Amino acid sequence: MILTRFVIIQESLLVVLFAQIFDRKVTMATTMQAVQLDEPGTSDKLYIGTVAMPTLTANEVLIKVFATAINRADLLQRKGLYPPPKGASNILGLEAVGIIEDKGINCSDKLSVGDRVLALLPGGGNAEYVTAHEGQVAVIPSGMSFTTAAAIPEVWLTAYQLLHFVGKLQKGEHVLIHAGGSGVGTAAVQLVRLAGGVPIVTAGSEDKIKKAVSLGAEVGFNYKEGSFVEKVLKQTNSESYKTALVKEFSENALPYFNVGSTHQLKTVIDTVFPLQDIGRAHQYMEDNKNIGKIVIQVRDEKQEPPRSEL
Ligand SMILES: *[C@@H]1O[C@H](CO)[C@@H](O)[C@H](O)[C@H]1NC(C)=O
Repeated sequence: MILTRFVIIQESLLVVLFAQIFDRKVTMATTMQAVQLDEPGTSDKLYIGTVAMPTLTANEVLIKVFATAINRADLLQRKGLYPPPKGASNILGLEAVGIIEDKGINCSDKLSVGDRVLALLPGGGNAEYVTAHEGQVAVIPSGMSFTTAAAIPEVWLTAYQLLHFVGKLQKGEHVLIHAGGSGVGTAAVQLVRLAGGVPIVTAGSEDKIKKAVSLGAEVGFNYKEGSFVEKVLKQTNSESYKTALVKEFSENALPYFNVGSTHQLKTVIDTVFPLQDIGRAHQYMEDNKNIGKIVIQVRDEKQEPPRSEL
């Protein structure tokens, strides 16, 4: 009798197990939508196509992408002037944000399935899913929208890297930031203040100088109005430039994006384009129309499941 019961239990377990495997197969897509380019060319050559899901390796996480962004390097890569690094995806996109869907077998416990994260990528971000090395992924502050978070990785890590890793910024130092109205410039201005330094900017228009000053620059010089070097040297102790690791950045800067924090950091977003308008987004950047970041929305934020459903 015991044996019979055991068999029955085994059978029902098997049914449940099969149902789960079957469900998983049904819900786990094998393909996804991604930005495609058949040969190098103009922005209108970009299109959205169906490709295989990326393969997860041992130290990577698989991210269900909600938003991504574009960078100058993407424009160059599109034109065939900047090949992706060896082994990287040939899909464009150096950054993405979303929810961790799966983890490679050798990942640490630092990140969990269901975490809302941002990722710095060698490529592949302009897609519905992307894999990223766990060390280049950071949990985004609670309450931050994916659209805002998508404006962070490239711009802010570049600024952080220049200031802290390259320039070894010390409290009280003056930092001269060229192109202070650019994405990296506006981030650097805020990070210099966060570190207790004094940012001074140069920019090509009064509007950009005003923007930088509103974000914390001590003073700005229009480089189109004669030599600024003399004026700047009077105010600068050091001309510092630096570089950031994701870990340090996520510990020392990321928390300051939280609303209401003492030195609140602000992303500067110019426009949000839907993924299918990727070509238009490239053209917009190529025409130098953007002041802040150009973000690409991959999924509606409303599609984000409540935490309990993950
Ligand atoms: C996972 O880590 C172990 C221990 O460091 C290593 O031996 C193994 O090769 C790794 N597996 C993969 C697939 O990288």
